Amino acid sequence: MCGIIGYNGFREANKVLIDCLKRLEYRGYDSAGIGIIGKKLQIFKEVGEISKLEKEIPVFDGDIGIGHTRWATHGAVTKENAHPQLSSNKKIAVIHNGIIDNFNFLKEDLEKKGVKFSSQTDSEVIAQLINENYKGNLRDAVISTIKQLKGSYAIVVVCKEEPDILVGARKESPLVIGVGDNENFLASDISALLKYTNRVKYLDDGEICVLSKTSIEVFNENKKEITKKEDIIDWELKDAEKSGFPHFMLKEIFEQPDAINRVLLGRVSEIDRTIKLHEKVEELLNYDIQSIHIIACGTSYYSGLVGKYLIEQLTNIPVFVELASEYRYFGTKNEKSLIIGVTQSGETADTLAALREAKNAGSRTLVITNVMGSTATRISDAYILTQSGPEIGVAATKTFTSQILILLLIAFKLAALKNKLGADELSKYIFRLKELPRKVREVLDHSDKILDIALQLKNVKSVFFIGRGINYPLSLEGALKLKEISYIHAEGFAAGELKHGPFALLTQITPVITIVTRDNTYDKMIANIGEVKARGPEVIAIADENDTEIEKHADFVIRFPGSSSPLSCIPIIVILQLLAYHVANLRGCSIDKPRNLAKSVTVE
Ligand code: AGP
Ligand code: GLU
Repeated sequence: MCGIIGYNGFREANKVLIDCLKRLEYRGYDSAGIGIIGKKLQIFKEVGEISKLEKEIPVFDGDIGIGHTRWATHGAVTKENAHPQLSSNKKIAVIHNGIIDNFNFLKEDLEKKGVKFSSQTDSEVIAQLINENYKGNLRDAVISTIKQLKGSYAIVVVCKEEPDILVGARKESPLVIGVGDNENFLASDISALLKYTNRVKYLDDGEICVLSKTSIEVFNENKKEITKKEDIIDWELKDAEKSGFPHFMLKEIFEQPDAINRVLLGRVSEIDRTIKLHEKVEELLNYDIQSIHIIACGTSYYSGLVGKYLIEQLTNIPVFVELASEYRYFGTKNEKSLIIGVTQSGETADTLAALREAKNAGSRTLVITNVMGSTATRISDAYILTQSGPEIGVAATKTFTSQILILLLIAFKLAALKNKLGADELSKYIFRLKELPRKVREVLDHSDKILDIALQLKNVKSVFFIGRGINYPLSLEGALKLKEISYIHAEGFAAGELKHGPFALLTQITPVITIVTRDNTYDKMIANIGEVKARGPEVIAIADENDTEIEKHADFVIRFPGSSSPLSCIPIIVILQLLAYHVANLRGCSIDKPRNLAKSVTVE
């Protein structure tokens, strides 16, 4: 959940760590700290955002250090609980991302031996244990310690007695090695490193690395050295900066025409009228698939729900969309079912756990993710990259549209394999796909009209979103976007369900946002709008620009460029994102870093 960074090089570690922590802050931001190792071990921690830490931090000399931005799981948000966590003799400092499940047991054991703890975190136990296990070799002490830990961790450790090295280890939490010239890095996220290097080595579960300024050694738990290949990341630094936009979220919303093109590039051919996915992916789709389980969390779960409508309609293969946190424990596992994990970060603990469960039960697993080298790509049989570039805003935007498009490409591919989609029909779809970036640009050009509607919503307490078919998951996503960044209570419903209970909540001050497309549900939606209006609320309709009837029914209308379902979902999503953005902005909310949230949830 948190962001961690380790640096060993020739620059002032202080500055590098603060700079990288700022880039990692979206992963967690309740408190932060750094530790610099030179002649002595110097630690500085603060509650609050990195900017506060930066203001208060003394000048520490040293070119080796560790930094952490926390998203508390164990122990309140206090200075003592911020990381780095120290052993009681202050010899060992550790930064940790994850949860140590058996920390109580380990802590009691250490306390019996007289070790004094000074925080309520589970992480402190790691520092104390490494110290207990230390016999003059930090790597060996870390290896002995991780054998005692149960749970998930990415850790970076420094030791006063070996001030030239950083030691890192991971299990079920992300940690990547950044390779530089006469400097090396460890980070929970590639985007933190882009300013310094685009060369990386991925650490796998159970591996331990030792970084000096000029060398990188990786070992397994039996101390056997492992050769790691170096990968080059094609993200650029500008991709991880705001580039003149007031917020990352707005920048990422505006990047969607480009993000759509990147999904289509090399996969959709107008000339051959084909959809081409990676060989390994096509192999997976070519099996006798009896059903599909899509597993994901949050916004990625909603893209899975959109995917269900797309795949079922085009292929008739039953699709079950499961919340990863539930599927892991209760989902049916079936060898004939293809598992599709959808995860922007590729590091969401619930999704990874569900994927592992499915794999252990013999299912084939395919992952849709935005992050090359992420854990999800390494534990699945095949993966498809959304190629959206780094997404920094905590609220997912461009990756949601890209995930949906990839699910649509999977639907086309499966339909073609099952002879359910002829070349002519596919080529019509391909034509419409290619038009999408232009349609999204049209929505973006009219962002000010959406701002007008946002003014109506700025002070309300509660908002409902309704839609049918594919517009139902869009309603869920519209509500999630609004609640997570504006803190207004919002709920999405299948339009037909409103009368089965939620109607009781409708009042004159509960606006209802309806998504109305000109398909076989149009009349029913108009009827639903009437039912809502009869109970007092104002209705805002998101409707096709060619819909000449809608104004007679709704109080306000936001238009999307005329397009036929199901592809209309893409411009509609952009409207919902802009609406949430403007409302949150008018309310002065912390848009990129909403309270209590973090970008990737790497704890269960
Ligand atoms: C979306 O705006 C979120 N903040 C959140 O729901 C997110 O989609 C979820 O945590 C899943 O993340 P993932 O796609 O990285 O797995
Ligand atoms: N479990 C640790 C804590 O609460 C680490 C949390 C994190 O990953 O930020 O301090």
